[in-house]
Amino acid sequence: MRVSSLLVAAAAASAHAYTTNSQIRLAYHGDSGMMVSWNTFNHVENPSVHWGLSKDRLNNIATSNVSITYPTSTTYNNHVLINDLRPDTTYFYKPSPLMKSNSTDIFNFTTSRRAGDNTPFSVAVVVDLGTMGSKGLTTSAGAPVASTNILQPGERNTIDSLESSLADFDFLWHAGDIAYADYWLKEEIQQFLPNTTIQGGAAVYESILNEFYDEMMAITASKPYMVGPGNHEANCDNAGTKDKAHNITYDSSICMPGQTNFTGFKNHFRMPSDVSGGTGNFWYSFDHGMVHFIQLDTETDLGHGFIGPDETGGSEGFFNVDPVNATMNAQTTWLEADLAAVDRSKTPWVIVAGHRALYLSNTDDTCSTCKDVFEPLLIKYKVDLVLSGHSHIYERLAPLAEGKEDPNGLENPTFPWYITNGAAGHYDGLDVLESPRQPYSRFGLDTTNATYGWSRLTFHNCTHLTHDFVASNNNTVLDSATLFKARPWCASSSSNHGEHCNHGEDC
Ligand SMILES: *[C@@H]1O[C@H](CO)[C@@H](O)[C@H](O)[C@H]1NC(C)=O
Ligand SMILES: *[C@@H]1O[C@H](CO)[C@@H](O)[C@H](O)[C@H]1NC(C)=O
Ligand SMILES: *[C@@H]1O[C@H](CO)[C@@H](O)[C@H](O)[C@H]1NC(C)=O
Ligand SMILES: *[C@@H]1O[C@H](CO)[C@@H](O)[C@H](O)[C@H]1NC(C)=O
Ligand SMILES: *[C@@H]1O[C@H](CO)[C@@H](O)[C@H](O)[C@H]1NC(C)=O
Ligand SMILES: *[C@@H]1O[C@H](CO)[C@@H](O)[C@H](O)[C@H]1NC(C)=O
Ligand SMILES: *[C@@H]1O[C@H](CO)[C@@H](O)[C@H](O)[C@H]1NC(C)=O
Ligand SMILES: *[C@@H]1O[C@H](CO)[C@@H](O)[C@H](O)[C@H]1NC(C)=O
Ligand SMILES: *[C@@H]1O[C@H](CO)[C@@H](O)[C@H](O)[C@H]1NC(C)=O
Ligand SMILES: *[C@@H]1O[C@H](CO)[C@@H](O)[C@H](O)[C@H]1NC(C)=O
Ligand SMILES: [Fe+2]
Repeated sequence: MRVSSLLVAAAAASAHAYTTNSQIRLAYHGDSGMMVSWNTFNHVENPSVHWGLSKDRLNNIATSNVSITYPTSTTYNNHVLINDLRPDTTYFYKPSPLMKSNSTDIFNFTTSRRAGDNTPFSVAVVVDLGTMGSKGLTTSAGAPVASTNILQPGERNTIDSLESSLADFDFLWHAGDIAYADYWLKEEIQQFLPNTTIQGGAAVYESILNEFYDEMMAITASKPYMVGPGNHEANCDNAGTKDKAHNITYDSSICMPGQTNFTGFKNHFRMPSDVSGGTGNFWYSFDHGMVHFIQLDTETDLGHGFIGPDETGGSEGFFNVDPVNATMNAQTTWLEADLAAVDRSKTPWVIVAGHRALYLSNTDDTCSTCKDVFEPLLIKYKVDLVLSGHSHIYERLAPLAEGKEDPNGLENPTFPWYITNGAAGHYDGLDVLESPRQPYSRFGLDTTNATYGWSRLTFHNCTHLTHDFVASNNNTVLDSATLFKARPWCASSSSNHGEHCNHGEDC
């Protein structure tokens, strides 16, 4: 470890720009629950949420004693679960206390659709979405950043695009790489942010996190925000930062306690793992209408003798990151049990997201150990679609198993379909799609086409699912593909009382 005396203590000033909007965020929790989370500057003895069916009668109160922080954090994370709600119903709510104690804002959310409800709906998916504006992706960047990777004047970013599309999706799924607070040092070295010291940098890291969650509140206060782990949640310095001018290479051993081991991520969210048998915010599942959604952890806990990429000793070279579950092979044991228990007559669709891709033209960004442990189960249980990011490109592939294309393509394949969309945007933008692309690649966008965007999944019915790449700049669809799955039992399931069937789709 080399701690620099060369970074001058010019400005802890950039660190106080945090916020007064409380970072309100929601998450589905079981069939009839909603987790309401928000931040305050002080510890709160009993965080509470006033809620009700109409704006002027918030006559119910849910409370908890969960108001938690960690070293270097400037806020407390409050988590309150509201239980026994009706499915697919809009409620109004107000967390208390808020940072602005005199705020009169009343928020609303809509609960999960009952499993087996066949009503069509859409979901927004992002991976690799960083802070926008003066601490992240904007119309300027440090000198090494390509001009195609910054925003053009007036170009709408992905957070604003999602906000402008709130009516078009039920929830937002963010499968890792959230905020990129660990870019603080890179942004200082590239002279995009004012220089601080390593010590002072801890405050910059937290200010970037706060800024991101503030920006996201425009979406996450009314739409559930389901998240999973990415490598940029692990620590304060990612896989290391080079200061070429001073011939210093930093690594994550510079990180303060509180800025290692996924600490911010563990504190900030309460994903529904306790009601789905998963582990923390790392792996879990939930039903929504005709879909069973599964979040996987490609960063730690792969089991089977592998060291996860972000664990101490793993491929990223990180320090001080431990597995999150001490049980041997906990994640794949859980995944198999979770998949085996899916009732395809109720939730015919099974969609999986994990941060790193199993297949991609940019092979350096794939996770072969993830493929080893997860793919056999994804094939065996006929998962419909596998989503990922990590590579900052968009690439839609064919349905695949063990590297072979399904002969049916998207017309009733047996193999899982793979899509990577890491093009949501962050400080230094998009990557280059490797050329030549894999033979099973069907469509790609990268820094050459300079297009930021998000994914929209539309579940039309039991047999048809459409994936769209939505360009953030103008909300136009730059790529659209529809998957068809023949499911003979669907025709009779419009009553929502299909016959119970387990173990894949062979009912
Ligand atoms: C918080 O509440 C739970 C149950 O609601 C209880 O088990 C726990 O002891 C409480 N913790 C504190 C610190 O009060
Ligand atoms: C109350 O609201 C006013 C106007 O928005 C604001 O200036 C003030 O800081 C708020 N007070 C507190 C305690 O948040
Ligand atoms: C719920 O909140 C969103 C975001 O503020 C808003 O656009 C929408 O109109 C609200 N819905 C209702 C029913 O008030
Ligand atoms: C900040 O640090 C970088 C790299 O150490 C250096 O090149 C730059 O001149 C410094 N900027 C200021 C304003 O001190
Ligand atoms: C940079 O640092 C390394 C190791 O600290 C050293 O071996 C190398 O000679 C240095 N290079 C320059 C140009 O100073
Ligand atoms: C670890 O996984 C086991 C088995 O899946 C589960 O029962 C346990 O709750 C998990 N532990 C944690 C800390 O979540
Ligand atoms: C990492 O966090 C886990 C809890 O999730 C804790 O048990 C472990 O001691 C932590 N390890 C380090 C190196 O901080
Ligand atoms: C975008 O550019 C990449 C890299 O040159 C290329 O592979 C891809 O086909 C382009 N996409 C479109 C839609 O033109
Ligand atoms: C929308 O924006 C994208 C990305 O900037 C661009 O490629 C496309 O041509 C635009 N479409 C329209 C209809 O303006
Ligand atoms: C399912 O949705 C697709 C796409 O909208 C449509 O073409 C198809 O006819 C629908 N199937 C049924 C059984 O309604
Ligand atoms: Fe990543």
